[in-house]
Amino acid sequence: MPLPENLTSGQWRNLLDRMDLRISDAIEDFVRAKFYGAGDLAAGFSELYKLRGGREPDYCLPGIAVAYAFKYLPQRVTCLVATLLQAAGQRTPSAILDVGSGSDAVSLALELLAPEDVMSSVTLEFSPEMQEFGGYLLQGQWERQRVTGDYHDLIGGGLQVGLGLFDLVTLSAAAPYGAARCGELAATISKLTSPPALIIAVEPERKARQLEELRAGFAESSFYQIEDYCCHQLTENLRIPRLLPRLTTLLRGYVPHIYKNPRLTEGGRRMIGDPPFDITSWNTLSSYKELAILCFEEGLVVPEEDDLLP
Ligand SMILES: C[S@@+](CC[C@H](N)C(=O)[O-])C[C@H]1O[C@@H](n2cnc3c(N)ncnc32)[C@H](O)[C@@H]1O
Repeated sequence: MPLPENLTSGQWRNLLDRMDLRISDAIEDFVRAKFYGAGDLAAGFSELYKLRGGREPDYCLPGIAVAYAFKYLPQRVTCLVATLLQAAGQRTPSAILDVGSGSDAVSLALELLAPEDVMSSVTLEFSPEMQEFGGYLLQGQWERQRVTGDYHDLIGGGLQVGLGLFDLVTLSAAAPYGAARCGELAATISKLTSPPALIIAVEPERKARQLEELRAGFAESSFYQIEDYCCHQLTENLRIPRLLPRLTTLLRGYVPHIYKNPRLTEGGRRMIGDPPFDITSWNTLSSYKELAILCFEEGLVVPEEDDLLP
């Protein structure tokens, strides 16, 4: 099925309800399966707080995937849904490469948008902790290949990914701070796609250098940039009044335990907030100001002005 071009407010409500359920169920199942206690979760929140200072957290740390699921996953998935609607609307992605896939925000966004579709995906991620969480999140009967590895090895040729003809490649908050080699990554990715492939990169604006490298790398590899927008242009998609009641309840359930833990940093405290915690702030425009979204398409012929003359 082609993805829809937009959703009605009722469809958005339905999609967010399903996302709320998926993420909160996954958190509960994962915490139980891993025997995580408040200390693990607080450590996860503390570690994740490094992102605020422009540093990379240790995504392999126990507890970090749960903290990420509370703190970032809902806004990542919502943003990806909105971006996919605008950039991929009317097409049907079938073979997806998700670089730095974390806990599978991209796959969840696609599953929520097209629950009946069966796609195939290769997800490349170096944290087994994040990958394992993704296993609790997804339900679709896709053909999935989860590669645990570093994308720098993909660039160097030391890592082969199974599918060769991807029609959608996503980089969702995947470029690390520091040396990210994004230009080389773009050149590598361009060899793994077949036209008309779509590339979607979503990054905080503070990763301007990485974004510029991606832009240049794809341009050199005959990709045309078809969209360059920030969250403000997704306004209509993201202006949603009431969000994620189950996740809010679940988080409040954890609050007493997390609050008592001395390892909780300002980041965790900000996340949990002083009760009553206002989860709507996650998906308001202010929290999206950071995001820059680039979309590239391969093999799209841009007409010369002369060609348009009669
Ligand atoms: C901010 S998270 C984003 C996860 C997911 N894409 C999302 O949108 O929620 C960044 C992820 O990229 C992964 N990552 C960072 N550098 C990587 C690399 N060189 N190779 C593979 N994965 C990497 C991290 O382990 C982490 O899970």
